Amino acid sequence: MSQLIVSGMRPTGKLHLGHYLGVIQNWVELQHKYNSYFFVADWHALTTKYDKTEELKNDVLNVVMDWLASGIDPKISTIYVQSHIPEIAELNVYLGMVTPQNWVERDPTLKDMAKILRTKEGANSQISYGLMGYPVLMSADIMMMNADAVPVGVDQVAHIEITRDIARRFNNIYNTEFFKEPQPILNHCSLICGLDGNKMGKSFHNDIKISDTAEETAKKVMTAITDRSRMRKTDLGHPDECEVAFKYWKIFGTEEQIAKVRQECEKGERGCADCKRELGALINEKLAEIREKRLYYENHIDEVKDILAEGDKKARIRAGEVLSQVRDIVKMY
Ligand code: TRP
Ligand code: SF4
Repeated sequence: MSQLIVSGMRPTGKLHLGHYLGVIQNWVELQHKYNSYFFVADWHALTTKYDKTEELKNDVLNVVMDWLASGIDPKISTIYVQSHIPEIAELNVYLGMVTPQNWVERDPTLKDMAKILRTKEGANSQISYGLMGYPVLMSADIMMMNADAVPVGVDQVAHIEITRDIARRFNNIYNTEFFKEPQPILNHCSLICGLDGNKMGKSFHNDIKISDTAEETAKKVMTAITDRSRMRKTDLGHPDECEVAFKYWKIFGTEEQIAKVRQECEKGERGCADCKRELGALINEKLAEIREKRLYYENHIDEVKDILAEGDKKARIRAGEVLSQVRDIVKMY
């Protein structure tokens, strides 16, 4: 029997190349080796955005369409929505009971989130009981499937540690070995920076979205930062100091293409505008298939909803099995 993995993503709107290269590509590979469960963490979205839910439904569908377009295959992976699995909420209750308060207070990711909330909303910012419960809910997501492992980015590893601690504590308290202590599987760190050289992110307006059109992408790529010391095409360039454009070449180009760009740039035979035009075309070529697939799903939204309904059903079967064991172990009536 192959091992089980579970991972989730908050519905933050349409995904960008950082998500694709850092997270989704990894999932796409892993799904062939593991019994895979991928879900949209819409309850986790509420922990900070409980008062901004207008786009939540759309955001869930957008995330799922990006996954499907990128190659998450619903025939081999189970794709579902967290809030459609009420068993998770019940497990969250049991896990909350055995989790010491200072474990969640210590959670470094939570501390960061609280800091961001404070800078955004000033002194009025409140950390809700729900946000404090973030790590416990996340543990419930993972333990709901009694997963062996969890593919995540480094920023989430502390959460997996807490999950392992909670699993161990539950097992100790109830004198059982039921829950596995899940291992993190690190996503490749996304090498791609934003068009301005900072971390790629939607709120920084420096991202290229999977769902952008070829024209939008070409236009965005023209804004990528280059070697700032270069004014004219004939100036000798320094690809290694070309802050964004050459880095993108290294991600998307073949070895020959990269070598050619480097040589022409260094010799002053390649203008930055031409270079970025070519780069935009290359990125579009790489994304063409994904975008075509995404467009297909946008035009067949019922198919997306069917896939989710099917995934919800499969996830609930697994969740139901785990929960009935947990209820037995805790000795609920
Ligand atoms: N906290 C994760 C993030 O922000 C999302 C998430 C929620 C998750 N539950 C999970 C990831 C369970 C892995 C497993 O990216
Ligand atoms: Fe960067 Fe290309 Fe300009 Fe060289 S020619 S500095 S690699 S954008």
